[in-house]
Amino acid sequence: MSHEKVETHAGLLALFVIIVISFGGLVEIVPLFFIKDTTEPIDGLKPYSALELEGRDIYVREGCYTCHSQMIRPFRAETERYGHYSVAGEFVYDRPFQWGSKRTGPDLARVGERYSDDWHRVHLINPRDVVPESNMPGFPWLAENELDGKHTAKKLQVMNQLTEATCTGCQTYSEEEIANAAEQVRGKTEMDALIAYLQSLGTSIKTRR
Ligand code: HEC
Repeated sequence: MSHEKVETHAGLLALFVIIVISFGGLVEIVPLFFIKDTTEPIDGLKPYSALELEGRDIYVREGCYTCHSQMIRPFRAETERYGHYSVAGEFVYDRPFQWGSKRTGPDLARVGERYSDDWHRVHLINPRDVVPESNMPGFPWLAENELDGKHTAKKLQVMNQLTEATCTGCQTYSEEEIANAAEQVRGKTEMDALIAYLQSLGTSIKTRR
């Protein structure tokens, strides 16, 4: 009888539905505030170098994320192909993270050290030169554009601010690293920076066979 009351009373039903959904949401969300793993770097993870950080910005600028995810899901088919599934502690220095969900091309979460720098250079200029059936666009201008390092130090400082605010056990850049940042990237091409970034991806968990 009491069940019928709930089912025939729209207001009451809505109220109970809201309670049930809120409870489900809280159960999922609240523990995340207390689990350290999500805000602590995994062993061996290093902050991006100045050059890698510049490369990361180029990755974002060129929209590589529109075709590539950086998030290996914990399924056999994924781990067989890409390596160990992604864990939260790998992304503490990623601001914003590049997980994505669109996979026109393969996931890149563990592409670091899989190919040589030369392979990447050829591939990024014209993918068809190494993968004939590829439909990835070429990015030849990256090899011509030089970095001037004008904003590099500032980028490191901003990273420090964000890291200090949110991450326990994360490393921050030293004064010296910030002072030398521009020098580290000046004269390098955008291609060098992007490749340095790609080679760093996912390498703190070793899974290559
Ligand atoms: C229009 C979609 C598209 C865009 C945009 C794109 N890619 Fe790709 N990418 C692909 C496809 C498809 C492949 C698989 C064929 C190949 O290897 O070229 C691929 C392959 C790759 C690979 C080799 C991965 C592996 O495990 O073999 C790398 C590295 C890569 N892309 C990097 C990039 C970077 C960096 C950018 C941005 C500058 C980018 N891609 C932009 C579609 C895209």
